[in-house]
Amino acid sequence: MIKVGIIGVGTVGSSVAVILEQNREVIAARAGKEIVVKRGVVKDLSRTRSDVKIPISTNIDDILDDPEIDVVVELMGGVEFPFEVAKKALERGKSVVTANKAMLAYHRYDLQAIAGEIPIGFEASVAGGIPIIKALRDGLGANHIRSIRGIMNGTCNFILTKMVKEGAAYEAVLKEAQTLGYAEADPTFDVGGFDAAHKLLILASIAYGIDAKPEEVLIEGIQKISQDEIAFAKEFGYSLKLLGIAKKEGEEVELRVHPVFISSEEMISKVDGVMNGISVIGDAVGETMYYGAGAGGDATASAVISDLIEIARVKGAPMLGFKRPMESGLRLKPQEEIRS
Ligand code: HSE
Repeated sequence: MIKVGIIGVGTVGSSVAVILEQNREVIAARAGKEIVVKRGVVKDLSRTRSDVKIPISTNIDDILDDPEIDVVVELMGGVEFPFEVAKKALERGKSVVTANKAMLAYHRYDLQAIAGEIPIGFEASVAGGIPIIKALRDGLGANHIRSIRGIMNGTCNFILTKMVKEGAAYEAVLKEAQTLGYAEADPTFDVGGFDAAHKLLILASIAYGIDAKPEEVLIEGIQKISQDEIAFAKEFGYSLKLLGIAKKEGEEVELRVHPVFISSEEMISKVDGVMNGISVIGDAVGETMYYGAGAGGDATASAVISDLIEIARVKGAPMLGFKRPMESGLRLKPQEEIRS
C-alpha cells in the first residue's frame, strides 16, 4: 500500500480523493498495490466537498511530518509557497505529485536537483487529462523533437469556441468557464496566455532542455481579440485558437503563445470547447497528435492518479500492469453476437 497526503482539496484534489475511492480496485490492479489517501489539508474547512470522505485538517505539517505518508500531492496553486512545500516533502524522502504548472515554470530545474532519484510526477500540469508528459518523455523518448504545437489552455479554447461558433460574449463565457472549474484562481493567467506559456515551458524542457522563465516567452493572450477578428473567422470558416508553439530551427528553439486563425483542414481546428489538442513532430516518428479534456476536476485528477500509479509501480510492482483476466465477471463477447 502507498499512503498519500493531498495539500489543496479543491476542484482537482476532491476529484482525486473521490476517484481513488470509486476506482480503487482497477487502480490497485494497475499499480500493483492499494493507493490510499491518509489525509487532506485545506485552507478553509467550510469549503470541503461533501462527497470527499478523507480526514481533512488545516495544517500542512500534518502531512509533511507524518512518516507514514509516502507521497505528497500538491494542488495548492501559487509559486514560491508550493515550491517550499515540495522541497520539504522531498527532503523528507517523500515523493511529490503536482499539477502546478506555474511553480514548475519557475522551479522545475530546482526541483529536479533537489529530488535526485525520488520520483516527482507532474502529468497533470500540462493539458489536463491528456498524458502528454508521458507521451513526450517516454513514448517519444527516441526522437529529436522538431516541434510542439497545440491548444494548451482549456479556458481560452472554451471561450474562443463559444465566441466564434455561438456568438457568445467574452465576459459571459469567461464566467461560465470559472463556474465549471476550468479557469485559474486568477483567470488573467488563462486569458493572458501565461498558463499556456507555463505549460509550453514544461514541454520544452522535456523536448529541448530549455531552462527559461515565463518572462522569456513571447506571449499574447486572447483579451484583445476584436469583434472584427471573430467575424472574419466566422465568415471564412476559420477556427481561432490560442496556440503554444515550440519549434527547433537549427540551433535555436522558438517559444511563443498567441492566437492563430486555423484553416478547417487542420485537425487542430476541430479541437473545441475545453478540449486541448497537441501535435508533436519527432524526427523518427513523424507527427503525432494528442487530444482530450484540458481542464476540469475529474480529467486533471485522472492525470494526478496516473502519477500515483507510476510511483507505486516504481516502488516495487513486479508486474506488467494488466488487470487480472476477466475480472469482475466480464466475459468476451462472442464474435457471432457482434456480427448479429
Ligand atoms: N486553467 C487551466 C486551463 C486549467 O484552462 O487549461 C488546466 O491547466
